[in-house]
Order: sequence, then C-alpha cells, then structure tokens
Amino acid sequence: MHILECRDLRKEYYSGENVIAAVDGITAAFEKGSFTAITGPSGSGKSTFLHLLSGLEHANGGEVYYNEKPLGGYNDNQLSVLRRRRFGFVFQAYNLVQELTGYENILLPVMLDRRKIDEAYFQKLVGMLEIEDRLHHLPSALSGGQQQRIAIARALANKPSILFADEPTGNLDGRSGREVMSLLRLVNRELGVTLVLVTHDQGVADQSQRIIRIEDGKITADSKPVTPGGDDQ
Ligand SMILES: Nc1ncnc2c1ncn2[C@@H]1O[C@H](COP(=O)(O)OP(=O)(O)O)[C@@H](O)[C@H]1O
Ligand SMILES: [Mg+2]
Repeated sequence: MHILECRDLRKEYYSGENVIAAVDGITAAFEKGSFTAITGPSGSGKSTFLHLLSGLEHANGGEVYYNEKPLGGYNDNQLSVLRRRRFGFVFQAYNLVQELTGYENILLPVMLDRRKIDEAYFQKLVGMLEIEDRLHHLPSALSGGQQQRIAIARALANKPSILFADEPTGNLDGRSGREVMSLLRLVNRELGVTLVLVTHDQGVADQSQRIIRIEDGKITADSKPVTPGGDDQ
C-alpha cells in the first residue's frame, strides 16, 4: 500500500497581478518505508510541494491521501493531530526552542500530546543519533550538526510514520551534513520511517532510493516512479 499519494496537486501564490504556480499539477505516490529525495533548482516549488504533502499548507487543487484517506476530509483539529502524531518535520534552520535543553526540546512534542515518555524508545533514539551527552545543553552550546540531530530526535519523538525534511543539511558544513544524512538513512532503515527529503544538493539526493526532480512546479524526472492507486510493489 502507498502510505502517501497526491493527485494533480496545485498551489498558486498571488503577488500583485502575477500568479505563481508554485506546484503545478503534481501526481505522485510514496511507498511505506521508502526514502525519496525531491530535488530541483531554487524556486522550483520543492518546499511548497513538501508543505502540501505534509498538510502544513492547503492546496488550491488536487488532493493528498495519507493511507488512502484524503487530507481534505480532516478538519483543522484532526489535521493538526495527524501532523503531530503521524508526521515529523525537520527544517534547514533546526528550529529548536532556544530556552529549552536538548532533552526538553526532544520531549516537547510528547508533552504537547499529553503522553508519557517511552523511556526505551527515547534511549534508542538518542543512542542512534549519538546525542546522549548533549541532552542537557541549550541549543546555543551545540554545533549545527548536534542541533540538527536533536531536531531529528524531536521529529521522531512521537513515533511518526513519515518524516519530512526540508534541506536538512543546508546550514551544515560538508562533514556534519554527511553525518546527518547517514543518520537519516539509519532512521529510515532501523525505524522503518518513510522519509521524504527536499534538497537542491545532488550529493545528498544520491543517497536516497528514489529521486524526483521538480522544475517550475512540475515533475520532470522520477528515478523510480510509483503509480498512484496502483499496487506495484
Ligand atoms: N508564501 C509565498 N508567497 C508568495 N510566493 C511564494 C510563497 N512561497 C513560495 N512562493 C513562490 O513559489 C515558488 C516556489 O517556491 P518554493 O516552494 O519555496 O521553492 P524551492 O523550495 O524549490 O526553492 C517561488 O517562485 C516562490 O517565490
Ligand atoms: Mg525550499
């Protein structure tokens, strides 16, 4: 089964008299547990596409399906619960809460969901991401790579089924970027989390199982196309 699909997805922005078709009719499907990179030049619509797929923004046309259920069928409250419990997000700028320690940042989504910590899962996460000795520092005392690893742990804290990452290595030096990429691959493999990652960096995209290229809001290449609605797996 496809965990995520979209059909004829569209998003337009209006600036003055101009209409920008940021996402211009995208149809795609993602297999459970897969790792897909979405690549393309700056301004091609990658981030907008990710925001639509993850329910952060509403489409002007078309539909996104999570486990075959249209996101349009969720009300705002249901959509935020879905995003909080089933989706994780990693951003280029880490977006950690500066006043909270690494530990508190990671547990924030669990607390917002009024749930208890799964101690064994927490230990597994921080072990995988090699941040055991960074948990009691504030973000300002951590390197970029360490902050991003805390942010990845936070994104995984609620055991999501899909992890969305937008240019997760964009602010990192080459070495830290490679470390973060190998940890994301580990997380995809070990936890079975479906990974959808946006990058304009070909070296990063090459580490995925599938590369979708976007130009001017349209898919122009797909290294391993998956037919929406099909059972081709
Ligand atoms: N909130 C917005 N308002 C107006 N235009 C936007 C907005 N977000 C994105 N755009 C425009 O949509 C296009 C795609 O942007 P984006 O999805 O951020 O591309 P990418 O992530 O590939 O760099 C660009 O032309 C951008 O200027
Ligand atoms: Mg972008």
